[in-house]
Amino acid sequence: MKKQVLSLLMAGVMAFSLMGCTSSGNNGPQSASTKQQETSAKDSSKQVSKTVSAGNKVGISMPTKTLERWNRDGSYLENKFKEAGHEVLITYSDNKIDQQVKDIEGLIADNVNLLIVAAIDGESLSQVLNQAKEKNIPVVAYDRLIMNTDAISYYISFDNYKVGTIQGEFIKNKLDLDNAGDKKYNIELTCGDPADNNAKFFFGGAIDVLKPYIDKGILVVPSGQTEFEQCGTAQWDTSKALSRFQNILGSYYSDGKVLDAALCSNDSTALGVTQALSSDYAGTNEVIITGQDGDEPNLANIIDGKQSMTVYKAVANEAIATLSLGEAILKGETVDASLIEKAKWSFEASYNTESYDNGTGKIPSFLLVPVAVTKENIQKELIDTGYYTMGSDGYPHPVN
Ligand code: GAL
Repeated sequence: MKKQVLSLLMAGVMAFSLMGCTSSGNNGPQSASTKQQETSAKDSSKQVSKTVSAGNKVGISMPTKTLERWNRDGSYLENKFKEAGHEVLITYSDNKIDQQVKDIEGLIADNVNLLIVAAIDGESLSQVLNQAKEKNIPVVAYDRLIMNTDAISYYISFDNYKVGTIQGEFIKNKLDLDNAGDKKYNIELTCGDPADNNAKFFFGGAIDVLKPYIDKGILVVPSGQTEFEQCGTAQWDTSKALSRFQNILGSYYSDGKVLDAALCSNDSTALGVTQALSSDYAGTNEVIITGQDGDEPNLANIIDGKQSMTVYKAVANEAIATLSLGEAILKGETVDASLIEKAKWSFEASYNTESYDNGTGKIPSFLLVPVAVTKENIQKELIDTGYYTMGSDGYPHPVN
């Protein structure tokens, strides 16, 4: 025990001595231009990329490469920690829960000093994270809260409830629901993976905006699927969202009923819904479709008028914030709201000790701020900020 504490302290001292070369302050969006490190192409724990350096050893466990954003998260995190002089071991678990457990076990066996974990299934990591706790390895829940374990020190994410309210408000404003008079609009709801704690927050934020209009009969859900449990999409899988929506269109819209809006919790599900509309919907109106993440195909759809908006979360900044948080933990500092001041982030974030209870208590959280992106502000929010470049094909492409 004593030895572990000592080695943690030593690691902290080493991290502290490296602080001079960290870049957590004042380099928000422009960090998006950081060059991508070479990482392995496949989802497998075997493709661990290692760089030996003088700092701490940081283990990063990402869910999968099959959903676009996690590739960006993984590469930003890897680059940020490496630039700050740490050794990085990163794994992607192919959206397989067992694989992620094995990957985290491997990182623990490799004696990482810090674990950063974006869970596939928030409920399935308690046991493996107990092993981390036993070895005094601090764990940061990255983007998705990890449930039922007290091995988590902190949670870093975006304001997930706000993501949902932005989507709900977008639909409300587009349809001008407050001035609907006698008009009625049809809407369908597509949520995320029920195993992902975030999914409930996204749905909760959106439904809190939309429910009063559903209750008044201004918004009608012809499928009747208004509960989170009915609208879920396992693993946020595009093809699952596609087939569910084809069923809805076949069952409730084949009589020529007009669909006005489709609430989709993120871009991978929005992609499935958009595909279902193009193959199975008879209407000619422009259906309002929401999303989240700024995935490449979805941004192309926004340019082409096939998706209305996406909620963009600057994962480059999430990586910067994670570096500041991780280094503060490694230094043994008491981490609280003051980190935001000290780190001098160039982006907005809040410290929240109320919203995220993982079943063992409230987990102190750092929450960044998501923004709505439409065709009108793509240039300002995504290109001018340096996160994406506008390709010669007329579509935005991520920079990292
Ligand atoms: C969520 C995440 C979203 C979205 C989704 C699918 O946890 O917050 O941004 O990417 O997973 O990967």
